[in-house]
This record gives sequence, structure tokens and C-alpha cells, in this order.
Amino acid sequence: MMKKNDMIYVTRPMIPPRDKFHQMCDEIFDSEWLTNMGEKHNKLEDNLKSFLDVDNILLFNNGTNALLTALKAMDLPYGSEVITTPFTFAATTHVIEWNGLKPVFADICQDRMVLTVESIEKNITPDTSAILAVHVYGFPCDVVGIERLAKKYNLKVIYDGAHAFNTKILGKSISKWGDITMLSFHATKLFNTIEGGALISNCKATHEKIKDLRNFGFQNEVTVSDIGINGKMNEIQAAVGLLNLEILDDEIAGRIYINQLYRDNLSCIREITIPNIDDNTSNSHQYFPILVENKRDELYEFLKKNGVYARKYFYPLCSEFAPYSKLESSSVDNLPIATEMSRQVICLPYYGRLVEDDQLNKVITLIKDFFR
Ligand SMILES: Cc1ncc(COP(=O)(O)O)c(C=O)c1O
Repeated sequence: MMKKNDMIYVTRPMIPPRDKFHQMCDEIFDSEWLTNMGEKHNKLEDNLKSFLDVDNILLFNNGTNALLTALKAMDLPYGSEVITTPFTFAATTHVIEWNGLKPVFADICQDRMVLTVESIEKNITPDTSAILAVHVYGFPCDVVGIERLAKKYNLKVIYDGAHAFNTKILGKSISKWGDITMLSFHATKLFNTIEGGALISNCKATHEKIKDLRNFGFQNEVTVSDIGINGKMNEIQAAVGLLNLEILDDEIAGRIYINQLYRDNLSCIREITIPNIDDNTSNSHQYFPILVENKRDELYEFLKKNGVYARKYFYPLCSEFAPYSKLESSSVDNLPIATEMSRQVICLPYYGRLVEDDQLNKVITLIKDFFR
């Protein structure tokens, strides 16, 4: 058996109880129904619908395929412009290009690191068809401001909510805003199905369209109505999801405890800023980002040398990646705050089991030693 690595990573996945998982695998193999909207898949879809309190949800085999499909479902004019953030994972920008659309980067704000309405508006042209915004770290975008812009300029709004599982604003699911919200259930995410994702939409017709697109465009056995993809989640993924949903509360409780300890111990360090979210928003507890003035890279190397693998999410910016760096909107002048934030941010280890084996203490002590 492979030995567990002693390195402290930025995250560790929730692992379902093995006896229950083995039992579910037996059920799946006995049924001989391994994928294509099987029993476990449908049950997970129902359970998530109630858990997240949403009307329309469709599971996917990963978040990237889900986001690809979300853009496709919006029927945006080929070659039109989609305004997006550079401060995100590569997949957000890639899905725009894969849909034959043009990414246009706008800048973010300093406190929550999400797109600002002012910067979005500045980048709107007659060719703009949509906004693809990211609730980065689960910090909500200005959903009301973006809705206002979308109405004014007749734009579609898609949210990449890969980090925003169960984020709520005033008790309402964050997915109530925008045309479609994507969730990722990748192993690094708070809630995982190993690989996986979902689309939540606020319109029944869009929901039905996504359902067809997810399955090659098949409307029924003999009718292909659209150019679809294989986005289906399989039964083993769904089984992991069903079991992880049962232990999610414990994982969140663990992260809340760690969050408080980090704040108690690190907020007095002058060089560190810990971002806060508004009181009316629930934290998704996906990441624990801090901003470090000047010495971010030294801190990263120091932690790594001492067995702690924190991550510079999101450095470099997507606008700095080779396929996008020549775009006009990729200039530093257009993205001053995003550029600054990407040079300061570092995500600390954040997962329920971090309290075991003195790991959390080790991380905190190392950071304190570094700044002493
Ligand atoms: C912001 C963001 N968008 C999209 C994705 C892609 O999701 P997936 O890995 O499930 O394909 C990720 C990460 O995994 C992400 O962090």
C-alpha cells in the first residue's frame, strides 16, 4: 500500500467511510448500471437540489465540462466577447476559447478579489455577449451590480462557482443570481465526487437544453437536437458524493475551527492581511487565502522547505498564460489590482484533518517564525 506523504498540502479530500463505499460499489456492480443517469446519480441530484435549495441542478463528470456546456447553452454569437476575470484557474478562460468566443479580461477589487462592476463596464463593447464571473474562494461577486449591467447591456451572466459550494447571500443560494452557475466537485474542493461538477440554472428551458447538451445533444433515442458533449457523471462518482454529503457538516465544522485559529494567531502579523467577507454572506470554506506584502514568495519557499505546500492561487494570472498574454485586455494597465493581488496571495492549508498530528500548529508556528 502506498504510504501517506508527510507533506502538509493546501487541502486533503474528504474520504467517505470505506465500508459504506464498498457496499455501494457492490450495489452498483450488481445492478450492472455504471453510468448514464443511474440510481445513485439521480439520488445525488435530488439530494443536492434540497441541500443547496435550488430548483434546477444537473450533475456533470467535471466542472470544466459543465462550464463548457453552460456557455454553449447560452447560444452566444460566434466570436463575440465574454468579459471575465484573470484571477482564476485556467479552466475559466479556456472554456471561452473552446466555445469559439473571445475572452476579455477586466480587473478585480482588493478586498474580495472578484470582478468590479466598473471594470466590467469599461470593457464592454458592441461585441460583448456575456459576463463569466468567478466567485473566487467562494467570495461572492457583486451579483446585484452585475445583474444591473446585464440588463442595461443585454448580456448573459454565467458564474463560475467552482469554489462557492453552498455559499449563501442573506440565506439564499448564490446560484439564484445569473443565468447559470457552475460548481466543481473535484477532489480538491470542499465537497468532492473525486471528479465532478454541476450546473444550476434559473430557467426551465435552459435546464432542459443543458440536459440534452450533457448527453451528446440526444433529446430522445433517435433525435439529436444540438451539438452536445459527454458530460455525464458515473455511478461511482455519485456514490462518493452521496457519502461525502453525509460527512460534510463535520468537515465544515473542522474548517470553521481552523479558520478561527488562523485568525487568532496571524492577524497580529503586520505584513499579513486576511480577507473578510460581508456579514450577510456565508463562507464556503473552500480556501484560506492571505495577502502578504513583499515577502510572499520567500514565505512560500520557506514553508515548502519545511514540509508545508501552500499554493499561490492565483499566480500567474490567466492573462499571463501564453495563449492569452497578447490580448489587448491582458495589459497590466487594464489589470493593476489583479496583478498586485496575484503577487501577494497565498492559500494556506485548509482541511478538517489539519488539526490532527499537530499539523495546524506546525503551519502557524512556521509562519510566526518567518515574520519574527
Ligand atoms: C475557479 C475554477 N474554475 C473551474 C475549475 C475546473 O473545475 P474541474 O476541476 O472540476 O474541472 C476549477 C478547479 O478545479 C476552478 O478552481
